[in-house]
Amino acid sequence: MKYYNNNFEFDVQLQIAENNFSPFYYDFENKIKLYNLDTFSFLPNIPDNCVDLIFADPPYFLSSGGITCSSGKKVCVDKGEWDKSRDIESIHNFNKKWLSESKRILKANGTIWVCGTFHNIFSVGFALQELGFKILNNIVWEKKDPPPNLTRRYFTHASEHLIWAAKTKQSRHTFNYKTLKTISNGEAIKSVWRDIWKMPSVDHSEKVFGKHPTQKPEGVIKRAILASSNTGDLVFDPFCGSGTTGVVCKKQNRKFVGIDNNIEYLNIAKKRLASTNNRNN
Ligand SMILES: C[S@@+](CC[C@H](N)C(=O)[O-])C[C@H]1O[C@@H](n2cnc3c(N)ncnc32)[C@H](O)[C@@H]1O
Repeated sequence: MKYYNNNFEFDVQLQIAENNFSPFYYDFENKIKLYNLDTFSFLPNIPDNCVDLIFADPPYFLSSGGITCSSGKKVCVDKGEWDKSRDIESIHNFNKKWLSESKRILKANGTIWVCGTFHNIFSVGFALQELGFKILNNIVWEKKDPPPNLTRRYFTHASEHLIWAAKTKQSRHTFNYKTLKTISNGEAIKSVWRDIWKMPSVDHSEKVFGKHPTQKPEGVIKRAILASSNTGDLVFDPFCGSGTTGVVCKKQNRKFVGIDNNIEYLNIAKKRLASTNNRNN
């Protein structure tokens, strides 16, 4: 079997633990792997300094029985047990635990993206600073089409945040300034370099294999991945859900490892990945 560069070590390590860590899905040609595991049991088995980029969309812990509007109907905001709201300390412990492992596995010049709303993002930002990451940007994703706030007691929630951080203050991080120009999609070019991204929610075409309750639009992840990684880089997603990060990686020729402990979501991811062509096809 042929292995690429320093991912050799990464793959060998996983093979040693084969019984516990056989992949749920493995596309050898494109170097894309999904694991159906708890991220906290998987992360300690990844060697130090081997990942170029982490894209993480962790639980926001916002499911508390509130209501929202979906397709014109009143629906509960709850996403699943994994997203149930918790006390601040428990949320912070959760974030610090996975972020500290993430720092260990990142290469010296590697960076991490973490998504969130006010429910988790302050904890994520604080944990990143406590752990010695260098915060590079706080991106605001302004949703073009947010659902109205039915309670009429708050402003409409029309944004999410993505914090982008480097492993350390010394990291020489990748920022593909010129590449961003190529994805302006009709927007004024200078707006692709701004930290406010005005982009729509998930398109129906991205949900043909099933629906994940907190699926991210490919467009948002594509901008992050193209800006901060290069062809052939290894991208890791510790909470990959329906596999959106993997789909973008396959289209953009990045290697990918994704973890989720929910098999239904991984089944969607598997079908999405199998039906995605890479840029060379
Ligand atoms: C916000 S969603 C990610 C959605 C994904 N970005 C997408 O586009 O489909 C978070 C995911 O984390 C998973 N998750 C939560 N806790 C986990 C854990 N301890 N280990 C592995 N996965 C976990 C959930 O099953 C859920 O799919």
